[in-house]
Amino acid sequence: MELPSAARVYDAYLGGAHNFAADRAFFARAKEKLPHIADVARWNRTFLRRAVQTMAEEGIDQFLDIGSGLPTAGNTHEIAHRTNPDARVVYADNEPVAVVQTEELLKDVPGTAVVRGDFLEPDAILGAAATRELLDLTKPVGVLAVALLHFIPREQHPEAALERYKDALPAGSRLAISHATVDGVAEPVRSQTLDFIDSYKDTQNPGFTARDELEFRRFFTGWELLDPGVAFTSEWRSDLTDVDDFAAANPKNAVCFAAVARKP
Ligand SMILES: C[S@@+](CC[C@H](N)C(=O)[O-])C[C@H]1O[C@@H](n2cnc3c(N)ncnc32)[C@H](O)[C@@H]1O
Repeated sequence: MELPSAARVYDAYLGGAHNFAADRAFFARAKEKLPHIADVARWNRTFLRRAVQTMAEEGIDQFLDIGSGLPTAGNTHEIAHRTNPDARVVYADNEPVAVVQTEELLKDVPGTAVVRGDFLEPDAILGAAATRELLDLTKPVGVLAVALLHFIPREQHPEAALERYKDALPAGSRLAISHATVDGVAEPVRSQTLDFIDSYKDTQNPGFTARDELEFRRFFTGWELLDPGVAFTSEWRSDLTDVDDFAAANPKNAVCFAAVARKP
């Protein structure tokens, strides 16, 4: 049987339909380890929507959403188009089901495309025909790496690939990242989260790695964090209205850091 994939189990956490039996079985085990995993996924997704809304309202009209996953409620282009119907969006993911489903969703949506590519190969994603056709890399771009970088272990140096994307973009570009953490998280959620993360060793994404706040901040080196700086996903600009808005009794239970930065 095919191993669960991060894209499809996340779809299961969010109540989506693009997952296989192996993914649903993984989700059932994940809920035993981290009972509020579905909330963690929803807080993360809410951060993504708030980040895109923020960037679009600040005038960003082109987006590169890397590790975009399976289509779900409130995709990047849908949020961006609420503010600017002409915004262009390129999605990228290395998971085949995610790419096929995204292609299906986008087939009648002008100004959007999906690229199958690996975050660790920036030149392939930045140089893909769809990217070159839709994004003008001489103008500010909103880059999203939401719930992506924790799938890349330290020995694969995600910060090096990220620098390549950051370097390729002009001043005024934005970068939104969320990332799993147990930094500052109290027991029992801390141990539950580590146990949950460990279970990914039996998936197609075995390198799942929690990072602390210092490591998270390093991803933004040289860029200016927008208010409120580094927050948990559940509390990043939680005043922004959102269809799927829901409060966290304890923001740290979101176990993911979130931030958006601007290239000076
Ligand atoms: C948890 S999902 C996040 C989806 C979406 N960004 C969100 O936050 O709602 C993580 C996604 O990252 C993708 N991914 C993991 N490693 C990747 C890599 N090296 N290159 C591209 N995509 C990757 C997975 O396939 C999956 O779709």
